[in-house]
Amino acid sequence: MSDIGKNASKNRRWVLASYPEGLPMLDNWRLETSPVPEPGPGEILVRTSFLSVDPYMRGRIAPGKNYTQGVGLGELMVGGGVGEVVASRHPAWKEGDIAEAMNFGWQEWVVLRPGQSGVLAVNRIDPALAPIQSSLSWLGMPGMAAYFGLIEVGRPKPGDTVVVSAASGAVGQIVGQLARLAGARTVAVAGGPDKLSWCRELGYDATVDYKAETDLEAAMRRACSDGVDVFFDNTAGPIHDAVMPNLAVGARIVICGRIALADQFGKPDIGPRFLSQFIVSRPSMHGFVVFDWWHRRDEALKRLAALHRAGKLRFKEDVIDGIERVPEAFIRLFRGENFGKQLVRVRV
Ligand SMILES: NC(=O)c1ccc[n+]([C@@H]2O[C@H](COP(=O)([O-])OP(=O)(O)OC[C@H]3O[C@@H](n4cnc5c(N)ncnc54)[C@H](OP(=O)(O)O)[C@@H]3O)[C@@H](O)[C@H]2O)c1
Repeated sequence: MSDIGKNASKNRRWVLASYPEGLPMLDNWRLETSPVPEPGPGEILVRTSFLSVDPYMRGRIAPGKNYTQGVGLGELMVGGGVGEVVASRHPAWKEGDIAEAMNFGWQEWVVLRPGQSGVLAVNRIDPALAPIQSSLSWLGMPGMAAYFGLIEVGRPKPGDTVVVSAASGAVGQIVGQLARLAGARTVAVAGGPDKLSWCRELGYDATVDYKAETDLEAAMRRACSDGVDVFFDNTAGPIHDAVMPNLAVGARIVICGRIALADQFGKPDIGPRFLSQFIVSRPSMHGFVVFDWWHRRDEALKRLAALHRAGKLRFKEDVIDGIERVPEAFIRLFRGENFGKQLVRVRV
């Protein structure tokens, strides 16, 4: 093992202690200590620099299968991360390289096996291109969700009205900017004046504070007087209900997330409503999973990087320090406390 690896005696890691009932709580996880793992042949040892916390993880800590297998009790909590290679037994990787992968888990040290494809791939990150944590935010999974969800599923045209919920968040802030670049008029829905002000800075044409409006459906109607052509739905719940009666004919609805229903996990969904509106507007509604688009990862990241270089893509991150605070960082997402992409800096 390298000198750095030898100097570290232990690996702090969060395991799932209990399944949340409703919204996750801090005591759903337990911080454990284990020896720093040793890389085997074809593997690399990586010291975590940043971990990503993402709303999809709520689905992984429910008993039973969501769209992929969840975390069992006592098992390491799942999650993406980025860090520095400190020991390599893989011919194509060396100490000092920066590795990003979806399967770091909430821990300080991880052994990864490069060479796998799809979501298990270990990606080499060029620190000269952007700060390495970008690979977990606009230049990673959330950026890809925005790119493919909007461009391939939402398919905005010039002059369309595009509504985005959780608009100041990791995915939402990219969706709004891409929609604007496609020539659409963009409407942000988010909670609180600071987040709305950031959305306006990003170029959103109109903003709606869903926490302040007493009649959200009327507020959406005012903000979208020609109707909604593309609805990028990150939340479900009351915002979804307020947008649906305002659809334009032929609208495209991207069902990206349901964070407003995170406390309802495991309970049966209520069936589709607004069916009269469906007949009137003839929209299409698509469920979206970013992992279905992983084979086109390079295309999305190249495009996002080029936009960023050209000064056309901005991004806000919300960084919390310390492995001890990963569950707290995760819970912030469900309280709307994060302002921008929520990250945890593990190696301060
Ligand atoms: N389908 C996919 O492949 C895919 C991939 C990535 C993300 N997603 C989904 O996209 C959504 C956004 O993810 P993200 O990573 O970009 O997170 P994010 O927007 O950075 O953070 C979550 C935000 O959700 C909002 N929120 C929380 N509770 C809410 C509620 N009850 N009602 C309305 N808004 C609420 C909060 O913003 P406000 O302060 O504005 O309320 C919070 O800041 C999530 O639903 C996530 O599951 C899906």
